[in-house]
Amino acid sequence: MLRTLAISLILLFSPVLNSCEKTGEETTVPDNSQEEQQEQEKEQQVESAGKTLIAYYSFSGDCRSIVASITTNMDADVLEIQPAEEGLDYAANNYAIGSSLIAAIREKPNNAASYPAIKPVNRNVADYDTLIIVTPLWWSNMAAPMQSYLFQEGSKMAGKTIGLIVSSYSSSISSVVADAQRLIPEGIFVKESLWINNANRSGKDALIKNWLSSFSNQSSETQSTMPEHIKISVGGKTIPIAIEDNNATMELVKVLRKAPVSYEANDYGGFEKVGDLGFSLPASDTQISTQPGDVILYSGNQIVLFYGTNSWSYTRIGKMEYGTLDELKAFLKAGQGMITVTLSL
Ligand SMILES: Cc1cc2nc3c(=O)[nH]c(=O)nc-3n(C[C@H](O)[C@H](O)[C@H](O)COP(=O)(O)O)c2cc1C
Repeated sequence: MLRTLAISLILLFSPVLNSCEKTGEETTVPDNSQEEQQEQEKEQQVESAGKTLIAYYSFSGDCRSIVASITTNMDADVLEIQPAEEGLDYAANNYAIGSSLIAAIREKPNNAASYPAIKPVNRNVADYDTLIIVTPLWWSNMAAPMQSYLFQEGSKMAGKTIGLIVSSYSSSISSVVADAQRLIPEGIFVKESLWINNANRSGKDALIKNWLSSFSNQSSETQSTMPEHIKISVGGKTIPIAIEDNNATMELVKVLRKAPVSYEANDYGGFEKVGDLGFSLPASDTQISTQPGDVILYSGNQIVLFYGTNSWSYTRIGKMEYGTLDELKAFLKAGQGMITVTLSL
């Protein structure tokens, strides 16, 4: 899995490297090799398609032009965020509308009603490992329509690699970075965010190219790093699971990076809740004596959550970090029948 990821990231940015080498030089490559190369580049782009989503908002066109520059360097899907109300002039009367939208969000950032409505979006973040957010700065903060999008979708971006590009006249972007972190609390942010402003805008293409290449290195590192914990939620409560480092957990994390997984589990034997994940993980079963809190893979596709003990041939997934045994039993609703379990990053 990691190898495939590394290869696709290398492929993703190889057109960038190739185009850098070619710039301004007369090529001596014969025509047919050139065709082959173009064919390869096409194939490489297809292979990486769908992994990265660029979500942007633009009022006066600067961010749109940043996105155009990104997409000449990499293959990615693009989502434009659009306010539901068309034709508003956010800059009129000394930015009066934009300023009042930002003031409303600052006053009540946890209230959905503070965020201006946006048009429905046609991309599902679950389809992507990596997101690049491109947004203008408004009154030091992230432009309101982009905040609306991230307020709606940011919680679905847990465990995904996030890059941020901010455009302003001259104001620095630290509050926009803070907005992004607030709205995507469990995203893995690539440092540093890129700041395009009126002083460096004429050189933006080169800045973007450099930023993308360091973004690609960092995102391949984050995507190949195993987290120490995943989360388990039952009935609105969530606790961490400290996970093992094996093929089953690597595969599970890969699935969870896309989206949380929910399944139903029921009591069995008076010592466990067991349920079918709906897909198989690579098992490496050995004889195990389980303890309360153990999270175990059974038969490749069943997850067993122990509140008692048993001995069987299993693969360890990890251990729930719970307080007392009674708290664990209450969390798992031990002996009370069917529960819905959600695993997430
Ligand atoms: C409502 C509003 C507020 C703005 N506030 C600031 C600001 O405080 N500081 C700044 O440097 N630029 C500010 N700008 C300028 C934009 O950040 C800048 O022009 C940006 O490049 C616009 O991107 P866009 O063309 O994609 O909309 C503001 C623009 C608007 C519309």
